[in-house]
Amino acid sequence: MQANLAKHWSLLQQHAERLKSQPLCDLFAADAERFSQFSVHLDDLLMDFSKEKIDQAALAALLQLAQAAQVEARRDAMVQGEKINSTEQRAVLHMALRDGIPAGVQVDGQDVLKEVAAVRERFLDFAEAVRTGAYKTVSGQAFTDVVNIGIGGSDLGPVMVTTALAPWHDGPAVHFVSNVDGAHSVDTLKGLNPQTTLVIVASKTFTTAETMLNFSTALAWLKASLGEQAGQHVAAVSTNLAATRSYGIEDTRVFGFWDWVGGRYSVWSAIGLPVAIAVGKQAFTEFLAGAKAMDEHFRSAPLAQNLPVLFALLGIWRRNLLQYPTVALIPYDQHLARFPAYVQQLDMESNGKRVQLDGSPIQTSTGPVIWGEPGTNAQHSFFQLIHQGSEVIPVDFLAAANPSSQSEFADLELHHETLLTNVLAQAQALAFGRDAEAVRADLQAAGLSAVQIEALVTHRTFPGDRPSTLMLYRQLTPYTLGRLVALFEHKVFVQGVIWGVNSYDQWGVELGKKLANVLAPALHDRTVPAGVDASTAGLLQHIHALRA
Ligand code: F6P
Repeated sequence: MQANLAKHWSLLQQHAERLKSQPLCDLFAADAERFSQFSVHLDDLLMDFSKEKIDQAALAALLQLAQAAQVEARRDAMVQGEKINSTEQRAVLHMALRDGIPAGVQVDGQDVLKEVAAVRERFLDFAEAVRTGAYKTVSGQAFTDVVNIGIGGSDLGPVMVTTALAPWHDGPAVHFVSNVDGAHSVDTLKGLNPQTTLVIVASKTFTTAETMLNFSTALAWLKASLGEQAGQHVAAVSTNLAATRSYGIEDTRVFGFWDWVGGRYSVWSAIGLPVAIAVGKQAFTEFLAGAKAMDEHFRSAPLAQNLPVLFALLGIWRRNLLQYPTVALIPYDQHLARFPAYVQQLDMESNGKRVQLDGSPIQTSTGPVIWGEPGTNAQHSFFQLIHQGSEVIPVDFLAAANPSSQSEFADLELHHETLLTNVLAQAQALAFGRDAEAVRADLQAAGLSAVQIEALVTHRTFPGDRPSTLMLYRQLTPYTLGRLVALFEHKVFVQGVIWGVNSYDQWGVELGKKLANVLAPALHDRTVPAGVDASTAGLLQHIHALRA
């Protein structure tokens, strides 16, 4: 814990003790204005946090914590290009990718916005050339399919955004290969025609083992059909231009970005190329504009009205004060089916940390476990546990007021009304539950005997008092999506500042990679390395036997 924050944490603990014993229904009963007091909006995007176990005094204490942690000064340092990623000595400027920083910011003597604009123009032009057929296959046809090969930030962003913007998808079909499990490559490529398929290799470092192996498989697949001309069906996105050259990928089809863009913050860069091919330049530009609007809000709105700041503080309240270890992220929006997976990387790779910036251990809990699936499906699988399980799991709901497309055969208004009634009902049930008295009355009305009623009453009681926040917006458009993703990015930033961690490195993923390199020869040669632990040795022997 940062020493100067101790008094703020201790005040917040007192508020948490007080509020723990005040059910949400009492908080609502005590304040007719609770909805307007505990909701904020940016244009049509509303964040309703009235169903969180919070009151004005606790919120004020959280805002003081943010001030004391110097959230605004740290935000300004990020925006100005200071090297706030201290363990890698890098600036953190993903906001620049959507023009969300002021003109003139430089990193190592380079004008950031100018560089961004130049690469953006190149990759959006290339996307248009693929879409229109101006960039042709070796046999002079238009590309029908694109396969993006990448993993982590070089996959999850493009997958999530392409899925979310399905109604805008009017370009070639876009496919994604990420897992090194050969099934992913084979299952994807076997349905495609190499004569009309473009492969994009997306890797910030261009050294990620999974991506390089998947690329070599795809290249072999292309070569079997196109021979030496296969390279014309390959494009790359990377910060490592020396490596793309060493793979023989022609510079005209290589789109760079910068070490000040973290992988999980890179969908706005040329990493978004498959998205731009799918939905086109205009929709991609609107996606960037939505994020820029959130950036401007984040940079200028006072803390008490600042959506990302408030969202972050609610997360701190849940995690550190009420001590809920997980968050369920439930979009009532099928197009956001991959949003929870995307936010998992964004949040858990950023704030899954146990030491502070100075290397000392953190005294508080940090990033929660984030998980989720779209509603209404989730209601029919794990919601039972959220309603009646022994742990409290706060929920972040996302919902649009309108469907994002129209249909000739489906009554999408009716579908959407049903979707919305469900999200509202779930949030209500979580917050207010159904007490034993009401359950008894229901069962009595259904004609059950007193004995039958008493046997069922505890099973059918909902404790309620389970918090949720709802993000509600007009419609899921490219602009809305950009705004939403930037909201989550800035939330992660603010929480990282309060916890005093570096949200922009990811050393925790390195050890497994190193050990995999050591074990690779053992798998290949069917040996057991000397000195390996007994469990791994036993497992290797079992694998070798099963492969015999
Ligand atoms: O292993 C984690 C990670 O480094 C992520 O941070 C990153 O998004 C992913 O791997 C892919 O890295 P690259 O884009 O360099 O292939």
